Amino acid sequence: MKTLVCGKGGSGKSTIAALLAKSMARRGYRVLVVDSDESNYGLHRQLGMELPDTLMNFFGGKKEMISKMMKAFPKGEQIKLFERKWGLDDIPEEYLGQKNSISLLAIGKIQDFGEGCACPMGALAKMFLDNLEVKEKEAVIVDTEAGIEHFGRGVEQGCDIILAVLDPTHESLQLSKKILEISQKINKDLYFVLNRVDDDSKEAMLRTRDKDRIAVAVPENKSIFMAGLAGEDIDEHIQEIENLVDLLEAKA
Ligand SMILES: Nc1ncnc2c1ncn2[C@@H]1O[C@H](COP(=O)(O)OP(=O)(O)O)[C@@H](O)[C@H]1O
Ligand SMILES: [Mg+2]
Repeated sequence: MKTLVCGKGGSGKSTIAALLAKSMARRGYRVLVVDSDESNYGLHRQLGMELPDTLMNFFGGKKEMISKMMKAFPKGEQIKLFERKWGLDDIPEEYLGQKNSISLLAIGKIQDFGEGCACPMGALAKMFLDNLEVKEKEAVIVDTEAGIEHFGRGVEQGCDIILAVLDPTHESLQLSKKILEISQKINKDLYFVLNRVDDDSKEAMLRTRDKDRIAVAVPENKSIFMAGLAGEDIDEHIQEIENLVDLLEAKA
């Protein structure tokens, strides 16, 4: 199963993605985490890894990608990077971060000021996920950039289930309406993961959202917060995350 995690900036997307990955690894899954957020440099630390070289570089870098796209688009063609379907074993090992049974693949990172837009990264994320075949006892978790631009680039198409992380802010609730609308349009299963809630904020959020769609409500957690501050590996066993994995397993 391929699970995509999205939401507003700072809502806890990478945290939830990392916690999910660790829980699934404990359950015996071979896990691939796909970092498709080109401007964030935190996920690898939450997984306790070094940032690997990017898939974009494997395919010749961003300039090369842009030039291929520029050539193909006026002719109405799609660029073709993959000659055949890939499984987890086909990803070149030098481009993976690795710890225990979790691998990390970064699509691309913005390295320099004035590098131009992130479109090639979105295009590559989409092509990679569309082309990736996942076997039983393998799990792919995709961490996305803030907002909903990745929907526009079709990154969700190659995924089976969407988790939208909502922190207790008005902005998150507004964004969740948009995400619901889009996910229905593209016919994908969507669940909300409330994050950093206490009893009061959880109650207030439950009142505004369709209860059936809320998968779990993850409380504010001091150890997660401190690990975030120190840029350290998060290694928390959280019951709500276990419940979330139960739900994903039931959907698989
Ligand atoms: N449940 C939680 N309890 C405490 N701190 C959290 C929780 N979820 C996320 N955080 C903290 O919030 C910050 C933003 O989280 P992050 O996962 O990087 O957000 P995003 O990927 O959505 O931008 C991090 O410092 C992280 O440690
Ligand atoms: Mg993030």
